[in-house]
Order: sequence, then C-alpha cells, then structure tokens
Amino acid sequence: FKVDDFILIIFGGAGDLTKRKLIPSIYNLFSHNFLNSNFKIIGFGHPYRKGSYHDFIRESIDEFVNDKSDNIDEFINHFDFITAEFDDNKAFLKMINNINKEIHEHIIFYFATPPFFSKMIIKNIGENKDKFNDFKKTRVVMEKPFGESKESAKNLNSLLHNYFEETQIYRIDHYLGKETVQNILFFRFSNIILEPIWNRNYIDHIQITVSESIGIEGRGRFYEKSGIIKDFVQNHIMQLISLISMEPPADFNANSIRDEKVKILKSIRKMDEKYIKDNIILGQYSNNENIAGYREEENVDPNSKTPTFFAGKFYIDNWRWADVPFYIRTGKRLPEKSTEIYIKFKEPPLKLINDHCNFYDSNSIIFKIQPNEEICMNINIKKPGIGNVVHSTFMNFNYKEIFEINKLTEYERLLIDCIDSDLTLFARQDEIEEMWEIVDPLLHLWAENKLLPKQYPAGSWGPFDSIKIIEKDNRHWRK
Ligand code: BG6
Repeated sequence: FKVDDFILIIFGGAGDLTKRKLIPSIYNLFSHNFLNSNFKIIGFGHPYRKGSYHDFIRESIDEFVNDKSDNIDEFINHFDFITAEFDDNKAFLKMINNINKEIHEHIIFYFATPPFFSKMIIKNIGENKDKFNDFKKTRVVMEKPFGESKESAKNLNSLLHNYFEETQIYRIDHYLGKETVQNILFFRFSNIILEPIWNRNYIDHIQITVSESIGIEGRGRFYEKSGIIKDFVQNHIMQLISLISMEPPADFNANSIRDEKVKILKSIRKMDEKYIKDNIILGQYSNNENIAGYREEENVDPNSKTPTFFAGKFYIDNWRWADVPFYIRTGKRLPEKSTEIYIKFKEPPLKLINDHCNFYDSNSIIFKIQPNEEICMNINIKKPGIGNVVHSTFMNFNYKEIFEINKLTEYERLLIDCIDSDLTLFARQDEIEEMWEIVDPLLHLWAENKLLPKQYPAGSWGPFDSIKIIEKDNRHWRK
C-alpha cells in the first residue's frame, strides 16, 4: 500500500505538535514505504529556536522515533521551511507559486497552530483558492480544539465553508486514530453477545478515566487559554462517550458513523448551574515533593484559575441510556498514565450462592485504551475446594499477545486517511458544534468564577470532592 503523492504545508511547522507527533509519524510512514518518492513538506510560520530546519527535523526524529534507520538524510531532503507570519499573504503566494503542481497530486494544509491563528490562515488559503485548481484534491486539516466555544466553532465552520466543501475539511482528534479506540466499535458491533446487554437494563454505570502523569510540558501559553475542558473534555472525552454509547450505524461509512455520534451528543443532558455545581469538580495541581505546581510552570499566571483536572457525571437522555450515569475523570499530574472505559453491569437479581460475596468489582468490561492495550471482562466463578465460595476473576484480550505486527500510531493512521480521503476518523461540523454545546455552560460558569478549580497535590487522584461525586451515588471510582 502506498498513498498518492502529496504536498503538505504545515502551519506551525516548527512547533511542538510538529516536533512530537507529525515529523515522527511522517518519518515512520516513509520508513515503512507508505509514501511515494515525490512527497514534499513545507513548514510555514515562526522560526525554530536554534539551528536550521533540517536540524529541527533531526532533533524530532532523535527524540521521538524509536526505530531509526540510515535513511534520515534522504527523509530530511523532502522538507523546506518558510519563515513568515501566518497572515503574510506575499510569503504564502510566493510559496504556492514555487510549488511544482505537475509532480504532486494533492495539496494538504495542516493547521498545527493554536485556535486563535485559524481565521487568518483560512483566509490566506481561501482567498488564493484558484491557485490550487491544478491539484486533484485540496484539503485542510485542523487540530483540536476546533474553536473556543460553540459560537466560535460555528464562525470558524462558516468561514471554512466560504472556501471549502465539508468533505475537504479534516478536523483531527488524535484519540480517534488510536487502534484501541477504533476497536470499541469493532468489539461492540461485530459480537452479537453484547448488543442485548448494552443498555440501561443491564448496565449500572460507565466510568471513563483519562489520567496523565505528565504536567503541561512547557505548553503554559497554550494551556492557560485552554485548560482541561477545552483540551480534553470537549473533544477526546466526548469522542469516547459517543463511541461507547452510539447506536449501530447504517453502514461503516464516515457519514453514517458520524450521524450516530451526533445523535448521542444531542441526547447528552444539558447542564444548568445547579446541576454543574452538584456534579462537576474542577481541579488544579499544586506542588508536591519535587514536582512544581501548575501556577509555578513557565508562562502560567501565578494566580491562574485554569483547571488541569475534571470530574463529573453526564447523562444521555435517550431510550438506551436513560438514567445510566457516565462518570468522567481526567487530569494532569495524576498518579499514572492510563485511559480506560469501565462498563459496570448490574448485580444479578439474587446473590444465590454466597451472601458475603463482594460482587462489586465483578461483572464488568474494561476497555484499556492505553498504555496497556487490553479488553478485560471481569466475571465470577466457583473457588475450588470445599464449600460454595464465589471468586472474582477475569478474561483478558491483550493486543501485544495476539498481534505481532506493529500497528500504526494515531497520527500515522490519521495522516494516511487524510491523504487517502477517508473522513471516518475525523469530526464533522455538527459533531464539533454539539460537543461545544455540552461544555459551553461549564466554561461560562468558570469564566464567571462560579466554578473554580480546587487544588490537588501533584501525583494524587485529584481534589477530594471528585470522590464525593460518585460516592454520593453509592458507587466508587475503579482503582
Ligand atoms: C492532547 C492534549 O490532545 O492529548 C495534551 O493537548 C495531552 O494535553 C495529549 O497530553 C494526550 O494524548 P495521549 O495520546 O498521550 O493520551
């Protein structure tokens, strides 16, 4: 398999995302022979801090690629860089005029930039659209967060639609590129045994935990504007909720899947001030032992109220999920890196065998998205020996044990899909807007200082009140 020849313009070509994710992914695709020999990449934007652009690429490969070979020089030759402000029309036109349109079939504009640069870049591309007529396809790839509220996402969408069709717009959420996230749909919709129990009759509640042990990794400027709600809840968390709860799509095409996700997002209960105050907790990490607190990080206001932790309860008011709580917890500087979805089934109608048995942790399915990629089913069995004692154990599927092949990383998969014109793993306009609609009330309350983050020591599981949110319902966060 090889993708078509393309030219990729990366706005923010010397930025953090490009260094950590894009260059390493493109390098791996190149090394595994997925790319055609003529592909070209041009970084556009503010210059890198030191050395030449080629040094920057070398550094990125050194730091973030495990499997290097002796093809690095050849790879680097595919790259150029244009130093310019994002709204510099002249530099943009010069770059476009210099492209040899006969070689490359597709042109892709990748926005590896914070949301506040998006408008000027879109205008720059859109107003020069006729220059791309010779390409078979023109595409724009936008990073998350897409916009900063429902209103700004809508404005951004209409600006984009002035120049591009919806099918040319690839809104990235890299969680959708993760194999284990995609597997949620495969596991749900290719096994008949799950469908009858995948609803409010059998499921007691669902927990989604996305914990990171890292802090903000020098991204203070970005994070101050974004915080956990815009950085994680509005996008990654909403995607996970949609996939775990959506109805079976009419077919496996991009629009059918996205239609079902949008239906779920529309059914998520709208939260008013009282509900938010009772059911949502924000947190911010404070220093602990040798780890700096959020307010001590570079480019962070010493009085910052930006949240780095979120815990809350959502409901999906539809036929399948009415009254089933979805407990969500995500944050930075928590004890470990782990993403998992825990589906807790109801207890059997009678505890026939042993009154003292603790059924709590049994009868559940856990999607371990990362770092251990597993699907685990907790079940009860008879403990061997005299007497009737129930024992809780599990059945486990582990990716590494079953598949020897190296799977694609999320950005590799998404880049291939983008070049290959497959929109399934990208968010559609209405999907994004619905996601903002859910979190906008939280952002408003936060902006009015009515929902302020509580401090938690770096390395802990968040503010104590996050435990109350679930324990007041007689349930517990999974350990
Ligand atoms: C990004 C966020 O979208 O996801 C980062 O901006 C976060 O703050 C990252 O660290 C986590 O991604 P992953 O794939 O490591 O879970």
